[in-house]
Amino acid sequence: MPRPIQALIDLSALEYNLSVVRRHAPRARVMAVVKADAYGHGLLRAAEALKSADGFALLEMDAAIRLRDAGYRHPILLVEGFFSTEELALIEQYHLSTVIHHSEQLAMLSAYKRRGGLDVFLKLNTGMNRLGFMPEQFSAALESLRTNPAIGQITLMTHFARADEPAGENSVSMQLQHFNAVAAGRNLACSLANSAAILYHPETHADWVRPGIMLYGASPFSGKTAAELGLRPVMTISSRVIAVQNIRAGDAVGYGHIFCADRPMRVGIVAGGYADGYPRHAPTGTPVLVDGRRSHILGRVSMDMLHVDLSGIGSAGVGSQVILWGEGLPVDEVAQAAGTISYELLCALAPRMQVVT
Ligand SMILES: Cc1ncc(COP(=O)(O)O)c(C=O)c1O
Repeated sequence: MPRPIQALIDLSALEYNLSVVRRHAPRARVMAVVKADAYGHGLLRAAEALKSADGFALLEMDAAIRLRDAGYRHPILLVEGFFSTEELALIEQYHLSTVIHHSEQLAMLSAYKRRGGLDVFLKLNTGMNRLGFMPEQFSAALESLRTNPAIGQITLMTHFARADEPAGENSVSMQLQHFNAVAAGRNLACSLANSAAILYHPETHADWVRPGIMLYGASPFSGKTAAELGLRPVMTISSRVIAVQNIRAGDAVGYGHIFCADRPMRVGIVAGGYADGYPRHAPTGTPVLVDGRRSHILGRVSMDMLHVDLSGIGSAGVGSQVILWGEGLPVDEVAQAAGTISYELLCALAPRMQVVT
C-alpha cells in the first residue's frame, strides 16, 4: 500500500466554480489564471476542466508551451511578460500573448523584425506599484506598440492591490479612476478584475476578467467563506493515522516538545508534513478532520508527519481518515490558523504528493 496521503482534485468543482465566475461577470470573457501549476492543482488537468474558459493566464513559458502542445487553442497570456528577445521567437512560434509592462520590453519589441499577430496586454500601474507603466508614460508606450508592425491586438490592463476590501475609498475606486482616465476614448479592450474584484466590484469587469483563487474554490476575502460565495473546494488533502501514542499529563510531543499535555491524551500520528506541503508554522490548534470529526494538530509539524488530538474521538485509531484541508474543512480556515492565505497552501503542494481525480 502506498503512503496514505493524497490530494484529491475535484475537477467537477473546478468546472462549477468557472460557472460561478460567469454568473458574476456574464458579459466579460474569462481568462482562467493557471500559473504556478494551476495554483498547485496540476496545469493540464486544471486546463481540461477549464477548457470552456476564453483564455488562460500564467507566467511560466514552459507551462504555456505545454498548454499549446496539449492542443489548447485559447489565447494564452504571459502575465509577467517576456524577459529576453529570444523569448519573442517562442511567443510567436506558440502564438502566445504577452503583458508589456516595462520600456525594456518595448525596446526589445521594436528591434524584433516580424510582422503582425503578436497580441499584447499593455499594463498600467494604477497604484499597486508592482508592474506597469505610470499613467504619464502610457501614451508613449501605446504609441510605440501601435506603430510597431509586429503587434496585433492591444488590450489594456491593470491589477488591484485592495480588491478584497468592500467598495470604498481604499478599495478599487482610486485605481479604477486612474485606469479609466487613461483608457477612456482609446477604444481598446480592457482587463482589470481578479477574483476579489469579480465578486465585489462589478464596475471593474470590463472585457476580460482574470479569476484565480475562486476557480480553485477558496475565498479571496478574510471575512467571507468560500461556501458563502457559492464556491466548491477543488483540492482535498486526505491522509490517515499511522500510529497512536497514549501520553500522560506532563508528556510532550514532537520536535522541541512545544506541546505538553496537561492531562492523559490519545495522540494520532498522521502521514503528512511540510515535505508534503503542509505548513510547518501551523500551530497547535490548527484544525483537521478525523473520521469526519473536528480536531486539531498538536506541537510542531515534522517533515513527514504531524500529531493530532484524538481525545474525544473514541473510535479513532490507526487507519482513521484525516482531512488536512478541502471537503468539510476549508483551506482558508487552515491557512488562517497558520497565519497565511489559501494561495500559499495550495501552491505549496509538494511534487511527491500522490494526486487522484
Ligand atoms: C495579474 C494577475 N491577474 C489575476 C490574478 C488572479 O488573482 P486571484 O487569484 O486573486 O483571482 C493574479 C494572481 O495573483 C495576477 O497576478
